[in-house]
Amino acid sequence: MLHELPVLDDGDRAPRGDEAPARGAKRPLEETPQNFALDHDPARSEADVLTDAFGREHTYLRIALVERCNLRCHYCMPADGLDWTPDEGLLSDDEILRLARLFAGGGVEKIRLTGGEPLLRPGVAALAERIGVVDGVETLAMTTNGLLLPKNLDALAEAGIGKLNISLDTLRADRFEEMTRRPGFSLVMEAIDAAIDNGYRPKINCVVMRDTNDDEVIDFVRFTQDRPVEVRFIEYMPFGGNGWQDDRLVPFRELRGRVRKAFPRLEACEDGPHATARTYRVPGFAGRVGFIASMTAPFCEGCNRLRLTADGHLKVCLFGQKEVSLRDPLRAGASDDELREIVSRAVGGKKARHAGMYNIADRKNRPMIAIGG
Ligand code: 5AD
Ligand code: SF4
Repeated sequence: MLHELPVLDDGDRAPRGDEAPARGAKRPLEETPQNFALDHDPARSEADVLTDAFGREHTYLRIALVERCNLRCHYCMPADGLDWTPDEGLLSDDEILRLARLFAGGGVEKIRLTGGEPLLRPGVAALAERIGVVDGVETLAMTTNGLLLPKNLDALAEAGIGKLNISLDTLRADRFEEMTRRPGFSLVMEAIDAAIDNGYRPKINCVVMRDTNDDEVIDFVRFTQDRPVEVRFIEYMPFGGNGWQDDRLVPFRELRGRVRKAFPRLEACEDGPHATARTYRVPGFAGRVGFIASMTAPFCEGCNRLRLTADGHLKVCLFGQKEVSLRDPLRAGASDDELREIVSRAVGGKKARHAGMYNIADRKNRPMIAIGG
């Protein structure tokens, strides 16, 4: 079973030459080879709807509730906007519920509500509550940009949202406006404090881009001193229309090197088998920091995630172009068995790993906002 395989680890726990490449040195970034222990056996996937041909069991479903967002982060939203799916093309509450039951019946234990910005969906708390009580769902989580969180927090907590991820790429109000093309910094800070006051230990998603916000990494580590949060530095990833360039990506090793230099006592924490972040803490700090190295040290081996877009498409890999509509067959009257067959085929076709950042950047994929973080 996959869970018993070693967690992807390239022996990088001990301090060593974590250095920035010379500025201006134009060489492609390297990906850490994965010590893959996955072997391909289609029979495994045929035997179980949510198990792929590499034996990975998919127990985690991310459901995008809307495509739209009230921010316009450069790395997420194409500058020239998007053709939004008309409302009738988005899954209704009942359709989401039906699919949530189907996936939970197949073994999904954790559901995360994403977007766009999920709190823009009317009736989001009521929908969350219905999803949270589906048989088999043990954990209900949400990723939000936080703008609407202060006024929704009580309702979400009551609805059973147990985990919150809040996006925040800068601790400076003026820079926030540049990066998101909208005001709102103080609301996000308020949201983080309110979440902590309500007993959450929120994760803070911070996409690091060179020459944009990478000078704030140490400030973000200090941010964890008195707050029980996990700041996760995420490598900048290529998506449709986001103008990705490798020299804007700060490889996690370089970033960790900088953090270690400022906090030499930084120590590694234990991460679970499906973890995307490698987490660390500074002794004595209330919170932690994590590095999500999707590009330079991917973690496909432990992947247990599936994604349902707001328009009802199933994506088995964040970076895969392949997707299949569940909405259309569902609206055409498909039975649960027929839907399971479609899901099973999609999961069975999941690749061992993503194609590498340069190939991803060259291919067509949806903009992130239309996938759902
Ligand atoms: N690279 C890395 N992370 C991204 N996100 C969106 N676009 C990108 C990208 N290009 C993540 C951010 C955000 C969440 C909604 O999706 O973490 O907080
Ligand atoms: Fe909105 Fe999040 Fe995309 Fe920013 S990253 S535009 S907050 S969905």
